[in-house]
Amino acid sequence: MNFAPSLELPSVAFFGRTMAEYAQFFALDPNALRGLSVLDVAAGPSSFTAEACRRGADAVAVDPLYGCTLQTLEAHVQIDYRRMLAQVRAKPELLRFRSFGSIDEAEVSRRSAATRFLTDYEQHFAHNRYVGAALPQLPFLDGAFALVLCAHLLFVYEKRFDYAFHLAACRELMRVSRSEARIHPVVGLGGKPYVELDRLCDALAAEGVTSAVVPVDYEFFMGSDSMLVLRCP
Ligand SMILES: C[S@@+](CC[C@H](N)C(=O)[O-])C[C@H]1O[C@@H](n2cnc3c(N)ncnc32)[C@H](O)[C@@H]1O
Repeated sequence: MNFAPSLELPSVAFFGRTMAEYAQFFALDPNALRGLSVLDVAAGPSSFTAEACRRGADAVAVDPLYGCTLQTLEAHVQIDYRRMLAQVRAKPELLRFRSFGSIDEAEVSRRSAATRFLTDYEQHFAHNRYVGAALPQLPFLDGAFALVLCAHLLFVYEKRFDYAFHLAACRELMRVSRSEARIHPVVGLGGKPYVELDRLCDALAAEGVTSAVVPVDYEFFMGSDSMLVLRCP
C-alpha cells in the first residue's frame, strides 16, 4: 500500500497565481514581455494575462471554463479555493517555504490573482483575451504565439491525464508556438517527478522537439522547483 502524502482533489482546480509567481516558476523577466505574443494555457483564474497585457504584451489566456458568466466563475473560485486551501493546510509536509513564508501569504497572493482575473475577464472577454478551449485541441493557428505557457495542469493531475494525453497536449502546445513552450511543474500532486518524462521527451525528440528540465528559483509545493522547456528549431 502507498501511504505517501498527496493532495486529493476531485477535479482540476480553478485556482490561479499572479504574474510575480509565474515570473518565478517560468523564469520570466516581466520587463521583457512588452510586444511579446504569449499564450497562457489552462490559465484558470490566474492574473498573468491581465498583468502581462498591462505591461504591453500581446497575451491571451485559454481555459475550458472561459465563456461561463462572471458569476459562474466567481462560484468556481469560491468553491475551488476553499477546497484547495483546506488540502494544503491539511498537508504542510508537502510544502517548501521558499517562495512564500507561510500558507497565509500564499493564500493572499492567490486570492489577489483571482480578484484581478475576474475584473479583467469582465472587461476583456469580449475582446478575445480569454478563450474557452481545452487541451489537446486549441483554436489557434500554427505558430500563433512566440511563447506558450502551461502551469499546474500537465503532470500535476496524474490520475486524470495519462501519457497519451500528455504527448498530444505537448504536441499542441508546440503547434501553436513559434519556438518555445514552458510547462510547470514537472511533478504530480504527491510532489514526485513525472514518471513518463523520458518516454515523453524521446517521443517529442523524434518529431524534432528538444526538451530540457530547467531548475527555477521557486518552490512552494514540494518538487515544484523546475520547468520543462520544449523548443523546436
Ligand atoms: C490549477 S489551474 C491552473 C491555473 C494557472 N495556470 C496557474 O498556474 O495558476 C488548472 C486549470 O486547468 C483548466 N483545465 C482543465 N482541463 C483542461 C484541459 N483539458 N485543457 C486546458 N485547461 C484545462 C482548469 O479549468 C483550471 O482552470
